[in-house]
Amino acid sequence: MKLKHIVESQQFTVPKIMELFERTNQMKKIVARGGTRDYSNRVMATLFYRPSTRTRFSFEAAMYRLGGKVLTTEQAKEFSSEVEGEMLEDTIRIISNYCDAIILRHHQEGGAKRAAAVSGVPIINAGDGSGGQHPTQALLDLYTIYNECKTLDGLSVAFIGALDDGRTVRSLAYLMSKFDRIKLYFIAPGDIQIKPDILDYLKENNISYALAKNMDDIINRVDVAYQTRIDRNRLQDKNLDLSVYNIDTDVLQKMKYNSIIMHPLPRSVEINTAVDTDPRAAYFRQAKNGLYVRMAVLSMLFDEA
Ligand code: CP
Repeated sequence: MKLKHIVESQQFTVPKIMELFERTNQMKKIVARGGTRDYSNRVMATLFYRPSTRTRFSFEAAMYRLGGKVLTTEQAKEFSSEVEGEMLEDTIRIISNYCDAIILRHHQEGGAKRAAAVSGVPIINAGDGSGGQHPTQALLDLYTIYNECKTLDGLSVAFIGALDDGRTVRSLAYLMSKFDRIKLYFIAPGDIQIKPDILDYLKENNISYALAKNMDDIINRVDVAYQTRIDRNRLQDKNLDLSVYNIDTDVLQKMKYNSIIMHPLPRSVEINTAVDTDPRAAYFRQAKNGLYVRMAVLSMLFDEA
């Protein structure tokens, strides 16, 4: 399997994921010695129509560590010709003349697919719409799980929070379901539970899963608690007690000693800062892995182009 565009996580096979992880391990060593000049003839563009800290900075840092160059705009909605009414497809046709890869965060679901259909260079989906996907986040999440749990088979993973518009949860659920004896729990209020398309995919692929309204009886048996942010404004008229979805030191006490807590970040109140110093809090290590995984993704795309 050759990489061209990276639009959704289903497109990755297990051998490709393992190849990527091997390269990610090499990238850690390359960063430790200050980077490489191997890709100094390559140019990457970041085109973000929505705010980002981790994804944009880590992709740009990855490109610099590979020796390449970066074209960027801080806020494409304001500083690209979208302001003049230019359609995404035309913007992509133009920018693809100036670079070797485009990292796109688009405000509409399906934006990355539309871009890939017209782009002369690889498109990497850095998050599309609210209910789309974020495949490189899922890759770095999976790499983190592999590193911390030392396996990807036989794991129980709880996804907690706003799961209906969780791009990262959607992408990671697709990736996790490629491995053996996986059990997925989706813990959320009914209104923001995971969408049926993911559940249909899990059913079709015989993946064991359960839906729950709270963490009771689940959090004590999972290997991974994957926490996400709940936009409280969306639910303010529903009168729900959202504090039951928070992870604090009381929840920590119920968790297995060798489990991990992840979060794509940014976080709000859903993980108490008192949890940060517990060795099971993996979310900052997870964000750091984003640099190495994205270096691996970019270098593989360039090598296979
Ligand atoms: N995890 C993630 O996508 O973070 P950013 O929105 O900061 O890129």
